[in-house]
Amino acid sequence: MKEKLKETIYNYFNGLVDKDLIKIEYPKDKTLGDYAIPCFQFAKVLKKSPNDIANELLENTDIKGTVLNGYLNIELNRLEYTKDLIKEINNKRNNYGNNNLGANKKIVIEYSSPNIAKPFGVGHLRSTVIGEALKHLAIKCGYDVTTINYLGDYGTQFGKLIYAYKRWGIEENMNTSVVNELKRVYVKFHEEAELDPSLDDEGRKWFKKLEDNDPEALKYFEWFRAESIKEFEKTYNLLKINKFDSYEGEAYYKDKMQPVIDELEQKGLLTISDGATIVDFGDDKPALIKRSDGASLYITRDIAALLDRKNRYNFDEILYVVGNEQALHFEQMKKIVSLMGYDFADDVKHINFGMVLQDGKKMSTRAGKSVILQDVLNEAIDKVKEHITNKENLEIDANEVSRIIGVGAVIFNDLKNYRTNDIEFNLNDILKYEGNTGPYIQYTYARIQSLLKNKNEAPFNIDDYELLNINDNIWNIVWQLYKFEENIINAKNNNDPSIIAKYALDLANLFNKLYAFEKIVDENENYSQFKLEICNITAIVLKESLSLLNIETINQM
Ligand code: ARG
Repeated sequence: MKEKLKETIYNYFNGLVDKDLIKIEYPKDKTLGDYAIPCFQFAKVLKKSPNDIANELLENTDIKGTVLNGYLNIELNRLEYTKDLIKEINNKRNNYGNNNLGANKKIVIEYSSPNIAKPFGVGHLRSTVIGEALKHLAIKCGYDVTTINYLGDYGTQFGKLIYAYKRWGIEENMNTSVVNELKRVYVKFHEEAELDPSLDDEGRKWFKKLEDNDPEALKYFEWFRAESIKEFEKTYNLLKINKFDSYEGEAYYKDKMQPVIDELEQKGLLTISDGATIVDFGDDKPALIKRSDGASLYITRDIAALLDRKNRYNFDEILYVVGNEQALHFEQMKKIVSLMGYDFADDVKHINFGMVLQDGKKMSTRAGKSVILQDVLNEAIDKVKEHITNKENLEIDANEVSRIIGVGAVIFNDLKNYRTNDIEFNLNDILKYEGNTGPYIQYTYARIQSLLKNKNEAPFNIDDYELLNINDNIWNIVWQLYKFEENIINAKNNNDPSIIAKYALDLANLFNKLYAFEKIVDENENYSQFKLEICNITAIVLKESLSLLNIETINQM
């Protein structure tokens, strides 16, 4: 529609004004119309007043509207427009909103990236949830998407862990919970090392063996890694996150760093400072490439990984979904890669995010430990389960209903605000069925589904409704549905899922307004069927918006 308008105006001016000058806005005051075309930009070129130009357009084209303060305000033919949209959404269904922003473009999204042999904490929740939403958005925009879970599976702690497990590990415990058992022996190691510092040497020895690919060390490492992934998958299953394309973590790059260090050396970028190898940017924050004891570092592995990914995937864009606290790290990584002479540093984006807070403080257990994600999700699910009263009448299992609502609530709470903000986590608030919550939107969806039981099976012939009046409540919904695609594009361009979360909330609010003011099903059969058609397309788009956020819907709750 917008394009059609632009075309009309462009043709009328016969190429005298640039296409880029033709802007189509939404009037701030909705009563003025649906679109507003500012005519100030044309005034200079055409040497006429903006009002005159607006009037000229009205007289000489098929555009209908009013002129006010240099704007041409356009009111659409509501009925025609609504009919078209109903047809379009019914045809495209969940493909409605698909677009070609990313056609022929490759994007790599690295997210989640928990550390093995450690529990999956709430900090990684944010990366997982934001990354998954960005994946769905990118797919919707037609990108070729590759997802990477860059596991934290390397570092001197793994030497200690192997030693500790060999000495104190109990295989039976591993069957119950690998992560707990590894944590137990790791804590034990540190307690014992306080008394006997020679244990640290033992840890170092095992780490060295790991670096040198000693078979026994590797066997333990692979085992810990595989079992950790199995444990993470329990959490991914709760979140309904499918497999990542790659689980290559830091360890994969352990023997691929020397070439990077050589290249940095050869390009004259390295300096030695206190025995350590660094890249000096001329400020007080150099990047540490190699420690004085020769051990490689996090950033070195990241540079190796980035160059490898560029080689392998030849991406147009790569996203790193990682918390605010690693901002300097990614800034330095990008700087180093540009200093090395690569021209793709601008395609590398740190998708940063804030912390999870509880009562304004960083979320932690009573003992001050980080909170385990699976516990949080299970608590949310259990709480929902307590409140489901009509368990017998549900179409699907009450456990599954509780999972969908509980997990959806946690995800929505994470995504509803701009990602760099800290988020407040209060289970009671986020599970409410009213307010800005996931359950509120899911509930709206379920409400529509129950209304739709009144909809005729026979295909709806919209052309039968010539005399329909599209009132404001309906029109506002139609207009919101129409803006789905531009919200998706906007969300992808800003890598900001909160745009979709707000979009879904607005849509739910608009629908509930209609529901509050009008009876959807009344004596007028024709008009009822028409309103049900509006319900139907609202449900389609509501479901698709939530699914972009990786939130599921249910027909009954
Ligand atoms: N495993 C890391 C952590 O938990 C996050 C990895 C971030 N990604 C990266 N390419 N450095 O802190």
